[in-house]
Amino acid sequence: MSIYKKIKLKIFNLIMNLMFMMRERYKHISINAVISKDVKRALVDIDISRITIEESRRFKDKIDTHVMITNLPQHKDIFYFKNFPLPCVLELDYSAKDKWLTDENYYPLYFNLYKILTSNMERVRMLEIGVRTGYQGVVFAKACEHKTVAFFTGLDPNIYLENGLSLAGESLKILRNNCTNFDFVLYEGYSWEQSIQRSLLHSGPYDIIHIDGDHSLQGKLVDLELSRRLLAHDGIVLVDDYDHHVIIKDAIKRAIVAGWFKEFLYIKTLHGLAILR
Ligand SMILES: C[S@@+](CC[C@H](N)C(=O)[O-])C[C@H]1O[C@@H](n2cnc3c(N)ncnc32)[C@H](O)[C@@H]1O
Repeated sequence: MSIYKKIKLKIFNLIMNLMFMMRERYKHISINAVISKDVKRALVDIDISRITIEESRRFKDKIDTHVMITNLPQHKDIFYFKNFPLPCVLELDYSAKDKWLTDENYYPLYFNLYKILTSNMERVRMLEIGVRTGYQGVVFAKACEHKTVAFFTGLDPNIYLENGLSLAGESLKILRNNCTNFDFVLYEGYSWEQSIQRSLLHSGPYDIIHIDGDHSLQGKLVDLELSRRLLAHDGIVLVDDYDHHVIIKDAIKRAIVAGWFKEFLYIKTLHGLAILR
């Protein structure tokens, strides 16, 4: 092979490797996502610059924040089983700056909120978009341990942690083996995938949907629009990080103006939580 051909081949290989690297690095960006007309409209046509959203009186009456902050469980009550941490608990999560894993204004508050939201239900189905290692699934299972049926569905493409769903599965299996009322299913994939959306529609609706996946504006709108289609009558959508990521307020305003949800409530948690119906 001539030196000229060898150089050409080297350059070609280099470009191919670079392309594969980029595809791996940016696989979370939904370039293949088929975005529905409703999401496109909410993203492009809605002007939220003068929109303020009112809190729902009905929600305020239902969710007594005073009750929510009393008798909060301890970190170990939720994430330990027989004196050992569940597999979802990662050592590295204890070193986060804002101590979200142990802060009583985060998972313990969610625990009480699930109790309040499900107080008059015997069968509860929850969906979480963005599971990571399954902390929320564990909180839900523990909060609903006295229900007749508590079913958790989790969805995640494992982009934060390669073994996130596997740790979630291990943790939830421990709880399932010790609690006859609890069961779960975990899907590996993105919420914008058509086949995933169809699977969720086939198995829904859900009484509680927790949105904590893609934190881009488009991604959040996809999840909000999907959630309104998956929500049971009287079901409720929770959106984490209301105070933490600016796009969340923006996305929620768009979703309300678009008419996807009618009621809104803000709850002060570590990162802020929005409740929608
Ligand atoms: C902040 S973490 C979720 C934390 C989890 N809710 C908890 O409380 O432990 C965000 C997760 O969303 C997932 N994610 C990102 N884009 C997603 C998408 N389009 N659909 C579903 N999950 C997504 C990531 O893989 C990551 O595990």
